[in-house]
Amino acid sequence: MKQKLITGFKPSGDIHLGNYLGAMKHLPELEEKYESFIFIPNYHALNSVQDAEKLSHLTMDAGKAILALGLNPDKTIIFKQSDVPEVCELSWILGSLMPMPLLERAHAYKDARDKNRSINAGVFNYPLLMAADILIYKINIVPVGKDQKQHIEIARTIAQKFNNQFGKFFIEPQEIIRKEVETIIGLDGRKMSKSYNNVIGLFESEEETIKKVMSIKTDSRRPEEPKNPEECAIFALHKHFSKNGLDEIANRYKQGKISYKESKDILAENINKELRQIRGNKKEFDKNEDFVKKVLKDGGKKAREIARGTMKEVRKLVGLL
Ligand code: ADP
Ligand code: TRP
Repeated sequence: MKQKLITGFKPSGDIHLGNYLGAMKHLPELEEKYESFIFIPNYHALNSVQDAEKLSHLTMDAGKAILALGLNPDKTIIFKQSDVPEVCELSWILGSLMPMPLLERAHAYKDARDKNRSINAGVFNYPLLMAADILIYKINIVPVGKDQKQHIEIARTIAQKFNNQFGKFFIEPQEIIRKEVETIIGLDGRKMSKSYNNVIGLFESEEETIKKVMSIKTDSRRPEEPKNPEECAIFALHKHFSKNGLDEIANRYKQGKISYKESKDILAENINKELRQIRGNKKEFDKNEDFVKKVLKDGGKKAREIARGTMKEVRKLVGLL
């Protein structure tokens, strides 16, 4: 039997190259090897998106993005988290087993608290729902970017606690984090992230991408000055989009034979070239939203059936008669 894989893309903003390279790009290959579940965690997004129209729009966009990658809905279960409300029940049960101090150590919660933002209980409970997302389908592996590592560790801890208390039932999931894409750098040299406003959008126009690439922060070194490619945010993206000419670009940096402007021109062209197909696919789905809705609905039914099976056993195990 094939092992099971899950990953999710929160509909809380436009999908960017960090999401694409860090977690999405290789999903079509993995679909062959694993029984795959790809979903849209819209309950999770409620933490930050509290506008019904915006949330439903972003949810549809995430669905189109998943399909635009080329995933096959006959092989992969593609669905919305809210079509499986059983995860909320499991999340509650798991919360009863989870010591508060462990959740208090979660990076996302600590960051939000340290920024002194008014935090909702959803942010604090986020890892419990994410653990439920994974455990309810008895998942083996979770391909994500590095920032999600701690969440998978928490899911493992909860699975262990449940198994110790009620007998071995849940699988302890493993993250897969690709070393070469663990943290994609954004326009300002920090991690590319919606919250830093430093992203290149997966589905923005080619003109927009060119403009964004031109705005990547550099130092003031002139074209003829030697530069260290490893210290350059443009080069960090070349590593993913200019694989063929990478050595040559690196040498030109070191020898002072390339300007930042030329480096940006090459990068923008390569990004647009690689994304042309996916961007085209997405436009087709924009014209055919009914198809996207149907895929999500059918996927939701399949996922829910599995989740119901798990919950029937969980209820029995914990004594909810
Ligand atoms: P954001 O940080 O913009 O809010 P999400 O939390 O929605 O992005 O991330 C969705 C997926 O994309 C996760 O698997 C996450 O690890 C991955 N990801 C997001 N940003 C990056 C990045 N800069 N580099 C690598 N992977 C990333
Ligand atoms: N927390 C993930 C993110 O922000 C999204 C997510 C929710 C997820 N549940 C999941 C990812 C389960 C993988 C598996 O990107």
